[in-house]
Amino acid sequence: MLLTLILLQGFSHALAANHGSHWTYKGPHGQVHWSDDHLDCGGQAQSPIDIQTKSVRHNPALPPIEPQGYRSPGDGAFTLLNNGHTVEMSLPPSMSLRGLPQTYVAVQLHFHWGSRGQAGGSEHQVNGETFPAELHIVHYNSESYANVSEAKQRVDGLAVLGILIEVGNVANPAYDNILDRLKNIQHAGQKISIPPFDIHELLPGQLGHYFRYNGSLTTPPCSQNVLWTVFRQRARISASQLERLQGGLYSTKVANSLPVPLVDNYRAPQLLNQRVVFSSFPVGPSAYSAGEIVAIVFGTLFGCLSIFLTIHFVVKRIRMKRIREQKDVVFKSSSRRAVSGNSHRP
Ligand SMILES: *[C@@H]1O[C@H](CO)[C@@H](O)[C@H](O)[C@H]1NC(C)=O
Ligand SMILES: *[C@@H]1O[C@H](CO)[C@@H](O)[C@H](O)[C@H]1NC(C)=O
Repeated sequence: MLLTLILLQGFSHALAANHGSHWTYKGPHGQVHWSDDHLDCGGQAQSPIDIQTKSVRHNPALPPIEPQGYRSPGDGAFTLLNNGHTVEMSLPPSMSLRGLPQTYVAVQLHFHWGSRGQAGGSEHQVNGETFPAELHIVHYNSESYANVSEAKQRVDGLAVLGILIEVGNVANPAYDNILDRLKNIQHAGQKISIPPFDIHELLPGQLGHYFRYNGSLTTPPCSQNVLWTVFRQRARISASQLERLQGGLYSTKVANSLPVPLVDNYRAPQLLNQRVVFSSFPVGPSAYSAGEIVAIVFGTLFGCLSIFLTIHFVVKRIRMKRIREQKDVVFKSSSRRAVSGNSHRP
């Protein structure tokens, strides 16, 4: 009897623990249910968001992001881990960020992506546009807190760089440092050490142009303590590199006889609510909608046509005036000649 009780208790305990930590993107533990176990996931300042450039506020005081120690991150190996939700790479504390309100030290980077032949994969969107993948480089506030575990609990604890990834014609060799190793960590829980490489090469070229807002972790526990920087410029990888990310991993452990592909690990955009998204750059013509562009084109054409017609009529008038004047001269001189001719006549 007692044994059964103890067993039962242990069983329900295991279930509860499993329930808390086991989350997915779709299905019974999918993103719409995250807030059942993690209250913050139902909060008012969640990430990702769909950045509507029309509503973005330009803040010219936002300086360029300055990554420190990204190019030569020491001699220590990086650990690359398949945690069942993403591929995550540990980063050394010698890497940090300047250009934010405080100094933030690097912790890890990881990816979000879609599945082969399907649109979507990025977490952030720009004017409703999705991208095939997104890279997140996670940092903690080292000026205020002793370590990442402490910073995670605080409202100004984390800063994440969001890099939207698009597909181009050429392979991006920096990304191969990670993508080439996925075959060694196909199953959840597997990890390997890889030689350190230049992390700066994973970033887009223009670090001065970005969107900035207050948001959250995009996975449970969805803590609302992330200062987000989403770069305007995208990083570019090749189609075959993207396919390796989309087809390289399983979300299940090696012992699982029914391996589940690790795909579509991106959260849907969350409500902006009262928040403001700032931009470090003036949001340019790309912010115009198709209707506005048509209006601008027709307005310009109409303006040009008016100027052309005005010039045309003015020139025509001047020419007619000249012709009339010339006729006058011809008439006067010929009439004078006629007069003088008459006078010579006897
Ligand atoms: C993090 O810092 C806090 C506060 O200084 C300390 O109590 C805790 O042990 C540290 N945790 C780790 C994992 O180092
Ligand atoms: C983020 O929130 C903090 C605290 O409320 C505020 O001081 C800061 O201006 C906010 N930053 C942005 C980019 O909205």
